[in-house]
Amino acid sequence: MIFNIVTIFPEFFDSALCCGLLGKAVDQGMVKVRLINPRDFTLDRHRSVDDRPYGGGPGMVMTLPPLAAALRSLESTGKILLLSPKGRPLDHAMAVRFSREQSLTLICGRYEGIDARLEDLFHLETVSVGNVVLNGGETAALHLLEAAARLLPGFLGHDESVADESFARGVLEHPHYSRPEEFEGCGVPEVLLSGDHAKIAAWRREGSLADTLDCRPELLHEAPLSASDLVVLRRLNLTRCRISKNCHLALVHAPVLNKHGQIGTVSLTNLDIHDIARVSRTYDMGGYYVCTPLQDQRRLGERLVRHWTNGPGREGNVDRADALALVRLVESLDHAVAGVREQTGQEPLLVGTSAASYATATMTVAQVREALHAKPVLLVLGTGHGLASEVLERCAGVLRPIRFYSAYNHLSVRSAAAIIVDRLLGDSG
Ligand SMILES: C[S@@+](CC[C@H](N)C(=O)[O-])C[C@H]1O[C@@H](n2cnc3c(N)ncnc32)[C@H](O)[C@@H]1O
Repeated sequence: MIFNIVTIFPEFFDSALCCGLLGKAVDQGMVKVRLINPRDFTLDRHRSVDDRPYGGGPGMVMTLPPLAAALRSLESTGKILLLSPKGRPLDHAMAVRFSREQSLTLICGRYEGIDARLEDLFHLETVSVGNVVLNGGETAALHLLEAAARLLPGFLGHDESVADESFARGVLEHPHYSRPEEFEGCGVPEVLLSGDHAKIAAWRREGSLADTLDCRPELLHEAPLSASDLVVLRRLNLTRCRISKNCHLALVHAPVLNKHGQIGTVSLTNLDIHDIARVSRTYDMGGYYVCTPLQDQRRLGERLVRHWTNGPGREGNVDRADALALVRLVESLDHAVAGVREQTGQEPLLVGTSAASYATATMTVAQVREALHAKPVLLVLGTGHGLASEVLERCAGVLRPIRFYSAYNHLSVRSAAAIIVDRLLGDSG
C-alpha cells in the first residue's frame, strides 16, 4: 500500500517509519511512504508556503500554489485525505475502508490551516483524529497511516489479533493479564489460570461487554450481540444504575404560564402521568413527582395510580404497575424537594427546563450528568406554556431548550421529558 504524505516537515516521519511493526512493513515493502514537501514546489527565493489571511486576524495560512503543484506532481494520488479538526473523526470502519485502497495521499496542514479553495480544486475527504487541535497534520497522518496499515494482511504476526481487537466486533476488547501471577498484592483472575478454555472465553466476553458498557456504552447500539450477551448486559447494567437512581423528575402544574403568559394552574393529563412514569422506570430513575396544589386533582391522580399499582390494571399489566409505582402526587415543588431529601438524605439540585428562550439557559447536559455522580438532581418540567419565572429562578440552573436552534419548539412535556432524560442518562454519551 502506498501512502503519499504532503508535509513541510518530512523529517517528522523518520523515526516513526523505522521502528516496530511499521518499520518492518516498510522494510518488507508492504507499506511504501513517499514524502512530498510543498516547499520543493515554490517559486520564490524564500520558498514560502504560507501567507497572511484575507480579512486579517492572527496566524498564517498555507497557500494554494505549492500545495496544488505538489499534488499534481504525483503520478497517482489515490484517495486524497485532508487532515483537519473539521473532518469526520477517524474510526475503525474508516480505517478498514482506507486499508482497502492501493494508495492514499495525506495532506498535513500547518499554521491556521490550508486555503479553503483547495477543496474546490481537488476531491478531498476531510478526516479528523479527535476534538483537539494539533500543531500540524503530521501526527494525525501518522495516526491514520498506522490505523490503516496494521489492518493489511500479514502486517501483524497473527492476523486473528486484528479480528479480536477493540471495535473489530463492535465492542471493546477484554482486559489482559500476564506474569507475574501476583504483583504488589494484585492477583490475576483465577479463571485465567484454570485452563478451562470455555470458561476463559465466557469470562473474556463478559469483560469485553463490561468494559464497553462502562467506557463506551454507545458502541452497544451497533454491536452484534447474542442472546447470552443480552443476559450478561442486563445483569451488569443493574449494578451500574446509581447515577440514574440519583435523577428524579417533578412535573409542575402550578405555577405555570398559560398561552397569554399569565400565571396559573393546569389540570393533570393522564398521558403525562403514564408516559413520564414509563420513562422514569425505563431509565431506572429515583422517582417521579406530579405536583398540583388542587386537592381534587391529586385525589384523581392517586385513584388513577392505584388502579394500575393495586387495582384491576395491575392484573392486566404488571409492567405498567411497576412504572406507575414511581409516581408521587404532591402539593408543590417544595413537597417534591422534601420527598427527594427524605428518600436520599441529601438536598437535591434543582434543574429547570424551558422551551422559551435559549437566553435563560445556564446549565449544560454535561454539567447535570457530572452533578448526578455526586448528588440527587430534581429535573423540573412545566405543564401549560412552561414554568413560571419564579420556579426557574429558584433552580440551580436551567437546561437549554431542546432544538434551541429551530424556530419551532413545541413538544409535549412528556416528549420533552423523554428526550431530556435520554440526553442525561441514555447510552449515547
Ligand atoms: C493548528 S492546526 C489549525 C487549526 C485551525 N485553525 C482550527 O482552529 O480548526 C494546523 C493543522 O493541524 C492539523 N490538525 C490539527 N488538529 C487536527 C485534528 N484534530 N485532526 C486532524 N488534523 C488536525 C490540520 O492539518 C491543521 O490544518
